[in-house]
Amino acid sequence: MKLFNKDITQTSTAALPADQQGPIRIKGLNHWFGSGEARKQALFDIDLTIERGSLVILMGASGSGKTTLLTLAGCLRDVQDGSVQLLGQELNGADENVLVACRRRLGFIFQAHNLHESLTAMQNVRMGLDVHGPQARKDWKAPASHLLNLVGLGDRLDYLPGNLSGGQKQRVAVARALVGNPDVVFADEPTAALDKESGHQVVSLLKRLGTERNTTTLMVTHDNKVLEMADRIITMEEGRIVKDELPHR
Ligand SMILES: Nc1ncnc2c1ncn2[C@@H]1O[C@H](COP(=O)(O)OP(=O)(O)OP(=O)(O)O)[C@@H](O)[C@H]1O
Ligand SMILES: [Mg+2]
Repeated sequence: MKLFNKDITQTSTAALPADQQGPIRIKGLNHWFGSGEARKQALFDIDLTIERGSLVILMGASGSGKTTLLTLAGCLRDVQDGSVQLLGQELNGADENVLVACRRRLGFIFQAHNLHESLTAMQNVRMGLDVHGPQARKDWKAPASHLLNLVGLGDRLDYLPGNLSGGQKQRVAVARALVGNPDVVFADEPTAALDKESGHQVVSLLKRLGTERNTTTLMVTHDNKVLEMADRIITMEEGRIVKDELPHR
């Protein structure tokens, strides 16, 4: 089965240069939080290139810098030092127009699903198209229900978040991240609130996107049960990448 119908594949606006050598290319990246006495380095000299279409898992203890790295690569935080190239664009010093164009091609799934409580599952998924053009927003119903079906919520389309379980809400957030047909998906513990089976379903969906659409996924997880699906597993420790390996299959 194809994941997307024609209408949504057209929503990806490819106004940015081609990214021949990997959609994420990071070199010499350092990052600090705080200022003065409280200034603390969170990332140290990160080098990382991620291949198109791959599913890369980021692991490491709490506080090791995973979310910081993800948000810098996903243009949600300003790059202070070093180079982050996303989809062929340098993010260090990039102006807001470039960042907006980049973000349009991304999907995000966060630890906290942050759904709008007053909107139904369908309407929440529609929010994923807000940064896209008017046509994508107009034709939102078919792709939104398609995605909700794919994550197993076909019978909950009109439910409000308050009437969904934690795992179901997380799956709505996954559908919202994917509805804009992103080139790169950044996911921060997307399976944390899910049972084994739905966690597996979500990660297999991301994996399938990689195969069928060449979508690249960078995902933080502590979930050992999904590691085997990764193309690559990167481990961080105290702000540094300490391991970069293939999964044991
Ligand atoms: N907004 C912030 N202000 C100050 N320090 C921060 C901020 N965000 C993160 N840090 C610090 O940077 C370091 C890395 O944090 P980060 O959130 O990237 O860790 P993480 O690996 O995602 O951890 P977790 O598994 O708990 O989510 C930590 O020492 C953290 O305290
Ligand atoms: Mg984190």
